[in-house]
Amino acid sequence: MSHLKSIDHVTYACEKGMIEKWAWFHIEVEGGTLIKRIDDVNPDGKSSMKIWCIDYGNFGIALIEGIDREEKSQVTAFTDLHGDHSCQHVAYDCYSLDKFIAHMKTLGGHPRGDVIIQDDGFGILKQMFAKGFASGHAGEATFPEYCERPRNASEARDMEITFSEMAGEGFYAQVQKAIEENDTTPFFDFKKMPTDWSVPPVQEKTGA
Ligand SMILES: [Fe+2]
Repeated sequence: MSHLKSIDHVTYACEKGMIEKWAWFHIEVEGGTLIKRIDDVNPDGKSSMKIWCIDYGNFGIALIEGIDREEKSQVTAFTDLHGDHSCQHVAYDCYSLDKFIAHMKTLGGHPRGDVIIQDDGFGILKQMFAKGFASGHAGEATFPEYCERPRNASEARDMEITFSEMAGEGFYAQVQKAIEENDTTPFFDFKKMPTDWSVPPVQEKTGA
């Protein structure tokens, strides 16, 4: 059974000075709509980033660009390694975020931090960021996000109430903490993968 419903959004890291060019590309070439623009997520921080959200109706693209002050932004660290407009994370919409997280943990998965409820620019949601797919510097790793958006007005209201009661830290803060703590462990180390697991046979695609 699939825990994941669809792709919610894809986040690309832009090299310094490039976010406008990529916004032009996603808006004018691909036909997306800019629905949120934050030019400094952490004005008092030692480093920060821009986040611009572009909507396509069924999914979104977030563009991020590092702002370096006393410290190099993790987004700059990411583009230094991977290049301009490199995919930092893909967010998957889950049927049940809580059920997926519980299941994933039993198989050896490591979240980057707690579940957060916030407005990520595309709207209110519950989200969990995982540690990087590859081990190493937390700011340089590509990672998945798992999320769940409210399906109706009453779920949205519940999330908004919880949101207003919790001091959420976004992925920037979670990754920053991991860098400071020198946490280089990956999302999955495969220790719980059975040694006798074999690739299942190919099956006909159903429900298309
Ligand atoms: Fe995200």
